[in-house]
Amino acid sequence: MTELGTLDDLPQDYRDALTAAGVAPLWPMMRNVLPHGKPNPITKSGYWSYDALRPLLLRAGELTPVEKAERRVLVLSDPGRGAGAMQATASLYLGMQLLLPGEAAPAHVHTPSAVRIIVEGEGGYTVVDGEKLPMHEGDLVMTPGGDWHDHGHDGGAPVVWLDVLDLPIFVTLEGSYATEGPLQAQRNRPDAALVEYTAAGLVPSRSRHRARRYPMARFPWERTEAALREIARYADGGIAEVDYVNPETGEDVLPTMGFTAMMLAAGQGESPPLRSSSAAFHVVRGRGRSTIDGKVIAWGPKDTFTAAPFAQIDHQAQDESFLVRAHDRPIQDKLGYYEERTR
Ligand SMILES: [Fe+2]
Repeated sequence: MTELGTLDDLPQDYRDALTAAGVAPLWPMMRNVLPHGKPNPITKSGYWSYDALRPLLLRAGELTPVEKAERRVLVLSDPGRGAGAMQATASLYLGMQLLLPGEAAPAHVHTPSAVRIIVEGEGGYTVVDGEKLPMHEGDLVMTPGGDWHDHGHDGGAPVVWLDVLDLPIFVTLEGSYATEGPLQAQRNRPDAALVEYTAAGLVPSRSRHRARRYPMARFPWERTEAALREIARYADGGIAEVDYVNPETGEDVLPTMGFTAMMLAAGQGESPPLRSSSAAFHVVRGRGRSTIDGKVIAWGPKDTFTAAPFAQIDHQAQDESFLVRAHDRPIQDKLGYYEERTR
């Protein structure tokens, strides 16, 4: 491989003339954007223990009323980009959000999509286009881009959830914005997950939701866990994994982000192929250890950790464990470059 010329190879008067003309030579910086063989991610694996985050989040509840925050969130910043970075990987934003009893987070709509993984508490709910979605621990609740949503809390103890957004993609495109509005009127019926989409392979013939781009906005955890357990029974030592999909189309739940739930039996290990997607893992339940590009992460319930593209990942469960992996494979598929490499 030929060494490319550097800026220092060029005389100063020529460099000054280039700058004055608003141009720059490509060859000294070409390897930065087109490294050989695989990308060179800025993203570094991060780890956020819930035991450390929870008191900080509750303190935010004392310091900042929800009216002053709209969304009371602590952002999980990629260590590769530093504290305050509004992204956990190149494409994924992660934030831990707190709603206290009686509080409401006002209605808005925005271009990025959000998926919430409920971490703690009962009584919280999200209203998506007038549909009131209860939030139980482990549930996935989607507010796709373009859908109005607000949050409320009828319970008696703090409610916490992990927000996963494709925000960095929209920021890169300079396409991220929100519109605020009044709290939505709630329809007096259970959500589609409980009424219409109750079994895999069956969709209602006279759906009230089919016309929606995203007909199912809530994926109850108890169903996900039941599916994983059933698959695990016949997995012959392999691990049980399920993808969250749109029940009407079978496609990924969102155009940009994918979600995959995984069950590891006590003592079970898993070493996935090297994937071009980046990932955020959230521990719904369990305890174990993951090595990500040489960094050892000892995780417990409600913890969160991340992996960069093509990271070498080895999971080792200590107890029976359930993890949800958020990833950007769907947008990589659409861009035509998603790839898995054997190790
Ligand atoms: Fe929002």
